[in-house]
Amino acid sequence: MTVILGIETSCDETAAAVVVDGCDVRSNVVASQIDLHKKYGGVVPEIASRAHIEWLDGTIAEALEQAGMTHDAIDAVAVSNRPGLVGSLLIGVTAAKTLAWAWQKPLVAVDHLEAHAYSPAMNRAPDEPLPLPAVAFVVSGGHTSLYDVASVDRQDLLGATTDDAAGEAFDKVATILGLGYPGGPAIDRVARNGNPQAVAFPRARLGRDSLDFSFSGIKTAVLYHVNGPGKTTGGLARLTDTDIADIAASFQAAVVDVLVDKAILAARRTKRQTLLLGGGVAANGRLREQLAARCREHGLTLHLARPALCTDNAAMIAGLGYHRLRDRPPAGLDLAANA
Ligand code: KG4
Ligand code: ZN
Repeated sequence: MTVILGIETSCDETAAAVVVDGCDVRSNVVASQIDLHKKYGGVVPEIASRAHIEWLDGTIAEALEQAGMTHDAIDAVAVSNRPGLVGSLLIGVTAAKTLAWAWQKPLVAVDHLEAHAYSPAMNRAPDEPLPLPAVAFVVSGGHTSLYDVASVDRQDLLGATTDDAAGEAFDKVATILGLGYPGGPAIDRVARNGNPQAVAFPRARLGRDSLDFSFSGIKTAVLYHVNGPGKTTGGLARLTDTDIADIAASFQAAVVDVLVDKAILAARRTKRQTLLLGGGVAANGRLREQLAARCREHGLTLHLARPALCTDNAAMIAGLGYHRLRDRPPAGLDLAANA
């Protein structure tokens, strides 16, 4: 049994977790900074770094306590050291180095995106094999990326966004619709009462065979739909709750259509039989349902990350950290944070 303490501070969640053998989550503590950033409509990097400094010690202590363990039981300390906000990453990396040195345990560096891609593979028992090879799809606030994952150590990029990430589009459209921050969960909720066919928003496919994405066009389409052609303000006050629900549902349907089509295309192109879905937007109800239906149609096996493992968390860092500890040399105390 290998016990990993995971630490995650790449953006605005201060998180620590204890995971055994890469998948058995003993604790998963996330201190969300949403309330600190809400009034600015997005993450303020300086505020995020300061909150990480204040909260991280307590978050780690709580993760150990909830797991019913002291540091003696920990075999290694894993930390996400890239990519993310460099000031935020530095707090987690410094804490992880300090603990690894003080406790004399190996330090393990984990790529935050690779951890999102790995998170759906945590739906297994420790004695079950990894669901690999597979196509992994990471749909988050910063990325919309399709990977061909041959093994836990080999991940090749198949396609990515050329402008906004899908989660970023959800957040921006939520702001246009006056739904607040973070926008993804708000649109998901409001869209349940709306008609996804009410507005025919564009589906940017970038060519029939492309595995890349573009979401800036649909964001502008929503902006002009709300305010009138070429106008960027003034329209929201005229909309009823039903209008807003219809626009949210239609926007979500357009984004989900493109995400699902390209995920299936990636699986067919690579001839992989398994699809993994992770990242914050993977919590979206419509995306989960539609992708599941299409995977059934195409005879593909789908692994959806558990909702608690979709948005940023340290369990996925500790989970992938287990494999990195096994397969690679540990990181040195000169480990850098990499934006
Ligand atoms: O993975 P994550 O927590 O952070 C990054 O690594 O970026 O993703 C956060 C993103 C935000 O844009 C948020 O609006 C979106 O995930 N999100 C959702 C939902 N829950 C979170 N988007 C759509 N539907 C959701 N239910
Ligand atoms: Zn993330």
